[in-house]
Amino acid sequence: MVPHSTADKLARLEHRIGDAVRAAAARAADKQHARGRLSARERIERLLDDGSFVELDALAVHRSTAFGLERNRVPGDGVITGHGTIDGRRVCVFAQDFTVFGGSLGEVYGEKICKVMDLALKTGSPIIGINEGAGARIQEGVVSLGLYGEIFRRNVHASGVIPQISLVMGACAGGHVYSPALTDFTVMVDGSSHMFVTGPEVIKTVTGEDVTFEELGGARTHNTRSGNAHYLAHSEDDALDYVRALLSYLPQNNLEDPPADGEEGDLEPGDADRALDTLIPDSSSRPYDMRVVIESVLDDAEFLEVQALFAPNVIVGFGRVEGRAVGVVANQPMQLAGILDIDASEKAARFVRTCDAFNIPVLTLVDVPGFLPGTDQEWNGIIRRGAKLLYAYAEATVPLITVITRKAYGGAYDVMGSKHLGADYNIAWPTAQIAVMGAQGAVNILYRKELAASDDPESLRAKLVAEYEDTLANPYQAAERGYVDAVIPPRETRREVARALRLLRDKREALPPKKHGNIPL
Ligand code: HXC
Repeated sequence: MVPHSTADKLARLEHRIGDAVRAAAARAADKQHARGRLSARERIERLLDDGSFVELDALAVHRSTAFGLERNRVPGDGVITGHGTIDGRRVCVFAQDFTVFGGSLGEVYGEKICKVMDLALKTGSPIIGINEGAGARIQEGVVSLGLYGEIFRRNVHASGVIPQISLVMGACAGGHVYSPALTDFTVMVDGSSHMFVTGPEVIKTVTGEDVTFEELGGARTHNTRSGNAHYLAHSEDDALDYVRALLSYLPQNNLEDPPADGEEGDLEPGDADRALDTLIPDSSSRPYDMRVVIESVLDDAEFLEVQALFAPNVIVGFGRVEGRAVGVVANQPMQLAGILDIDASEKAARFVRTCDAFNIPVLTLVDVPGFLPGTDQEWNGIIRRGAKLLYAYAEATVPLITVITRKAYGGAYDVMGSKHLGADYNIAWPTAQIAVMGAQGAVNILYRKELAASDDPESLRAKLVAEYEDTLANPYQAAERGYVDAVIPPRETRREVARALRLLRDKREALPPKKHGNIPL
């Protein structure tokens, strides 16, 4: 071949690409398969529509010469970046390659992530990060720390503008955990994902505690205890499927609506709707499954739950009504009677804000006995942390629809999407008890002296409880004042919710201009 001819140049390109992409991909796949994992490239290929991936910076290499790094320049520098489509919709993506320097982040690696994040923001495309890496690349020193900062700043600037989703697919240590924490959703894989700021060895040295990787920062720990993760996948494929499903409810960016697929349909109550008429037990202390109500309202009873294992006393997740996305927030009477505690308040607050940022109406289903009492809750900040939920509802400008099925007591009545915080359409079932507190508690406080002096306190208590229930523990005081717009038979719920969503489709509401609010953190 003639040197420097066009044919020679094409051959050189082919050689470089072969080196950069194919050889490195094969090496990485072998190493990852030996650990029972997919390679970074395979993860991207399984996430995106077939053949849609377009890679960027495949030929980038690091510039470092410290600690012999100059002898080890891997094309791509340990992270694969680019764009493609999911269900035909454009997304930007990066996947970290653990087989190159343990997936640790150096200067060029960081620059590649920043570049694809900038591209996502410029083009209004969701960004998905597939994370597996050992934190700052030790050999590159402060440059690595600087690039982390650049990524975090971009995460923050993109927050509420484009959906950001993180998959944690292996060990993520040090700086690798904070970018996922700044994104909207984090998905982990049971048994193989870990996240921690400092690992078990450092913890042992500093505090003397003995803790395993799994206990400290496994997928189950972050899904059940810390609340850092939003879904516990049973495999890498399951994790990727969840992310694709999640995206189907989200718009491309904050200036668009989520994809809609469906027409206004027949809202005549069916069997599932009629079953709601017998769902609420006669005794208000008996639980029932709020999931039945959620599924009766959503198209095809399809509900994509978020953070299912964390604070299960409140349920949050996505579904569709007449083909359009809604976010659901619901107290769950089956767990701690559906009470609001710190974790439930923060979980619901974060979800309401996510929906509000991305133009997704919020449907709130209320059966809440109040806030959880106790020193643990008070000392850990239920006041400021419960206030987050008030804040989230009061600042939300998306359509807000609230259905009170049973208890709506005290402060929790106000918090859970009440009219007073700005909900647009509030309805109650005839079984609703909208009051300062439940009948037993109220009677004990109001009639303590009379009950103590009575010859037959139990029959007096029963009479007073019945009187309280007739006058105060029902939906009608609220209905008389317009605090609920209608009291409906439970079977009418889907119809009422669908009609309200139609009405509110073009809702426009703006808050006073400001730099930003100051949500209690
Ligand atoms: C460069 C690293 C590295 C690092 C690991 N490697 N960590 N290279 N910088 N930070 C290399 C190893 O030398 C090894 O290279 C390969 O990656 C795989 O590492 P192993 O330890 O063999 O893997 P494994 O046993 O699976 O353990 C994975 C791990 C562990 C749990 C992530 O490597 C680990 O704890 N690493 C250190 C984590 C850490 O402290 N990072 C710095 C945090 S400070 P060879 O050549 O042998 O394959 C930080 C600051 C940012 O991130 C703060 C921003 C807010």
